[in-house]
Amino acid sequence: MARVTVVEDEVQLASTGALRITTLIELAIAERGSAVLCLSGGRTPERLYETLADQREPWRTRIDWSAVHVFWSDERHVPPDHPDSNYGMAYRTLLSRVSIPPEQIHRIEGERPDAREAARDYEAELRDRTIDVALLGIGEDAHIASIFPGRPLADERSVRAAAAWVPHLQAWRITLTPLALLAARGTMVMASGPKKADAVRAALALPEDVTRYPAQLLRRAEDRVEWVIDRAAARSLDAPTAQ
Ligand code: 6PG
Repeated sequence: MARVTVVEDEVQLASTGALRITTLIELAIAERGSAVLCLSGGRTPERLYETLADQREPWRTRIDWSAVHVFWSDERHVPPDHPDSNYGMAYRTLLSRVSIPPEQIHRIEGERPDAREAARDYEAELRDRTIDVALLGIGEDAHIASIFPGRPLADERSVRAAAAWVPHLQAWRITLTPLALLAARGTMVMASGPKKADAVRAALALPEDVTRYPAQLLRRAEDRVEWVIDRAAARSLDAPTAQ
């Protein structure tokens, strides 16, 4: 069973998340000399990224960014300076504020006209690296990265990144597949607010149906996955581990 930590609110979510991410990065650097960090998009991690970059916070100096390689779980099919770009959000809130060598920022090229080519190139960029720390959010429909209900990509056993057409958004997304995500040495899923409560319950407690609830895929990585969620997102769980 995945570990679930329930915190009070969004502020605690960011500080608890920052502490866990910092610890996992430190561990990876201590064991292997570098850390492969995979960031998520969406709105939830914004405060976490700002917290990680905050000069007044301890993790600002604890993380040796010169030893960190940054990837993304997924990207929207937009250029990097577009307001919807996951890279753009992480760059503004975190990466532009820490000393990380630019060649260690491995973004998905969402500006490429053909999303499938962007996915192929991104997979090549990932090479044979294993993700040390994967950060994920969860959608209200229980999607993770850009693995949406109806197409869980779990049968894609040979590719680690794929382009996915998302009918309800009428847009392409480029996403890591379960093959890459489930191999991560550590994964932290963050969720906040009452609108996420049903998705969190589906991911953790409902009978398995990964086509309907892609977040259930994470059950396959079990003890390597931890959930950090606020009280509102946890309200549909029967017996959360309170902190
Ligand atoms: C994206 C994502 C996606 C996100 C969830 C949660 O590009 O949108 O990476 O999987 O994490 O949709 O999004 P929010 O944090 O905005 O609720």
